[in-house]
Amino acid sequence: MRFFAVSTLTLSAFVSAQSNSVDQYISSEGPIAKAGLLANIGPDGSKSSGAMAGVVIASPSTTNPDYLYSWIRDSSLVFKVIIDQYTTGQDSSFGNLIDDFVTAEATFQKIPNPSGNVSTGGLGEPKFYINETAFEGSWGRPQRDGPALRATAMITYANYLIDNGNITGVKNTLWPIIQLDLDYVSSNWNQTTFDLWEEIQSSSFFTTAVQHRALREGFALASKLGETSAAGGYLTQADNLLCFLQSYWNPSGGYITANTGGGRSGKDANAVLASIHTFDYTAGCDAATFQPCSDKALSSLKVFVDSFRSIYSINNGLSANASVAVGRYPEDVYMGGNPWYLTTAAVAEQLYDALTVWSDLDSLNVTSTSLAFFQDFDSSVQAGTYDSSSSAYSTLTSAIRDYADGFLAINAKNTPSNGGLSEQYSKSDGSPTSAADLTWSYASALTAFSARNGTKYATWGAKGLTIPSSCSPNSGPTVSVQFNVNATTIEGENIFITGSVDTLKDWSPDDALKLDPANYPIWQITVNLPASETIQYKYLRKNNGQVTWEDDPNNSITTPSSGADATHDTWR
Ligand SMILES: *[C@@H]1O[C@H](CO)[C@@H](O)[C@H](O)[C@H]1NC(C)=O
Ligand SMILES: *[C@@H]1O[C@H](CO)[C@@H](O)[C@H](O)[C@H]1NC(C)=O
Ligand SMILES: *[C@@H]1O[C@H](CO)[C@@H](O)[C@H](O)[C@H]1NC(C)=O
Ligand SMILES: *[C@@H]1O[C@H](CO)[C@@H](O)[C@H](O)[C@H]1NC(C)=O
Ligand SMILES: *[C@@H]1O[C@H](CO)[C@@H](O)[C@H](O)[C@H]1NC(C)=O
Ligand SMILES: *[C@@H]1O[C@H](CO)[C@@H](O)[C@H](O)[C@H]1NC(C)=O
Ligand SMILES: *[C@@H]1O[C@H](CO)[C@@H](O)[C@H](O)[C@H]1NC(C)=O
Ligand SMILES: *[C@@H]1O[C@H](CO)[C@@H](O)[C@H](O)[C@H]1NC(C)=O
Ligand SMILES: *[C@@H]1O[C@H](CO)[C@@H](O)[C@H](O)[C@H]1NC(C)=O
Repeated sequence: MRFFAVSTLTLSAFVSAQSNSVDQYISSEGPIAKAGLLANIGPDGSKSSGAMAGVVIASPSTTNPDYLYSWIRDSSLVFKVIIDQYTTGQDSSFGNLIDDFVTAEATFQKIPNPSGNVSTGGLGEPKFYINETAFEGSWGRPQRDGPALRATAMITYANYLIDNGNITGVKNTLWPIIQLDLDYVSSNWNQTTFDLWEEIQSSSFFTTAVQHRALREGFALASKLGETSAAGGYLTQADNLLCFLQSYWNPSGGYITANTGGGRSGKDANAVLASIHTFDYTAGCDAATFQPCSDKALSSLKVFVDSFRSIYSINNGLSANASVAVGRYPEDVYMGGNPWYLTTAAVAEQLYDALTVWSDLDSLNVTSTSLAFFQDFDSSVQAGTYDSSSSAYSTLTSAIRDYADGFLAINAKNTPSNGGLSEQYSKSDGSPTSAADLTWSYASALTAFSARNGTKYATWGAKGLTIPSSCSPNSGPTVSVQFNVNATTIEGENIFITGSVDTLKDWSPDDALKLDPANYPIWQITVNLPASETIQYKYLRKNNGQVTWEDDPNNSITTPSSGADATHDTWR
């Protein structure tokens, strides 16, 4: 699909002509992308012969490169699209396919592989053969974003089933799968991982961001299902992840550094992809979670996009604020180091998400951090709040919408006439290159098209989060501890516990956990605590708002390295 010549058009004609051409691209490419995605899913996909039911192939390409595998990351991102469409009523035919995916992923979880088995780290294995057997060759493993992305896809489905009265299906089928993934993330987030491009082993922003999201929404789901001890552990680690997430921000460069290792600039589509895959329209422009319209994510987007202006010849001659083709990161040499469809679409998607939130909030903020980004669209704009009645708001949002459309227009220009989306297109002439029919390319087109429409998907709980004041590492795996205290009480009085770790609410009498008196006078609660750690705690009584603490000293427990433990205390 070739773009038209623009030289004879005025700027305003260009703007609406471009918008129209993007409308046309979406109406032709949307159905092709959806069909292309479905063709790569077994057992009936037309390009995925040999794939088991619900198994997503990365691409039918078997040589240079060989992508005939099922990656947990790609599959989960693809099924998130399918689950989003199903759960929002856009396509009601996807139910059986989603159930196939659930079954396939449950199988993958249990296949012993070079990363371990289901209980010793095997969930970090990045890819499997499409006949559901382990790939034993050398590879960049583990990749710890996979379990988080899979949990997010399945949690979206689980919440939908609960809303529709199918709690049994969630408890029996989905929760055991989700719990394995969340437990893996909870225990292992603070260990190094290969990044989403499978090249650098360190800590990676995308991985940390999607792990944070998974544990945050995992906490909510576990709480809903009454899995309170699991929930507490997820919440503790979600807070730790949110704290750690902040450390990727490079304040002097004004961008999110993709990886802590690797010896590169750190400017990387990693951050754009993290922003769109952790978008939560209820969270406004919150920079704590690097929301698409946050000043940090916008500044980072500008630095990232600008890094491609001079390195691809197809970007030559475009003005300094024009939309351009972008790849994974400027130092990339893989398959020649070219623009990718999915990274260029992701830039458009982040901007569409931002426009959706500004429109909801009827205003946008320009801060010192995001000033350079906004000045690309109006060189005279200053830091400040612009409400939707202001001319600056109209100027900026219409220029940004056009800028976003420009990224899709570049993908459109470099999409062949049959609409097929490969992985990359040549940096010198725009012709498709690397793996043909990349499933993730199709998924990225669909999510960008839907974001352009302002379509909203379920919140994951990003609104109003507070970044902990100091960062805690993960103390490692957690163990289940049952607290028992023998306490006689009077009518209306209840026994609570609080203590020195987040799970025990950090000594907060207000948030203290209530114990269960079913075996009165023994009051009980079971919580997941960090393993191999000495933890202090106290019980308290509450009666009509009146709080009575136990006498000193504090109680103390040193948790075992694995398994479970129990206390047998008597109220002092
Ligand atoms: C996983 O491996 C460990 C250590 O080799 C072993 O003890 C355990 O039984 C295995 N679990 C399964 C489910 O195979
Ligand atoms: C699964 O597929 C791989 C790769 O094609 C092949 O080497 C292996 O023999 C297959 N295993 C089974 C059990 O079919
Ligand atoms: C409930 O959910 C399970 C798990 O996805 C599914 O297999 C089952 O068909 C659902 N039941 C109903 C009545 O929809
Ligand atoms: C573990 O967490 C601590 C505290 O946030 C952080 O300083 C450290 O870099 C993390 N390490 C890894 C590998 O995630
Ligand atoms: C703008 O900043 C103010 C003050 O920090 C905040 O309350 C408001 O939500 C922000 N609005 C947007 C659209 O980011
Ligand atoms: C790009 O910058 C030029 C020069 O500052 C300006 O005239 C033009 O409006 C900008 N383009 C967009 C789309 O904002
Ligand atoms: C966008 O919204 C329009 C109007 O509601 C609808 O016809 C179209 O299918 C939507 N497109 C996408 C990609 O969601
Ligand atoms: C609880 O404590 C009381 C007073 O010390 C004691 O008499 C009673 O046997 C204890 N009950 C249990 C179940 O341990
Ligand atoms: C119990 O722990 C709290 C919180 O760390 C501390 O302020 C208090 O001094 C401790 N009590 C004793 C008796 O050590």
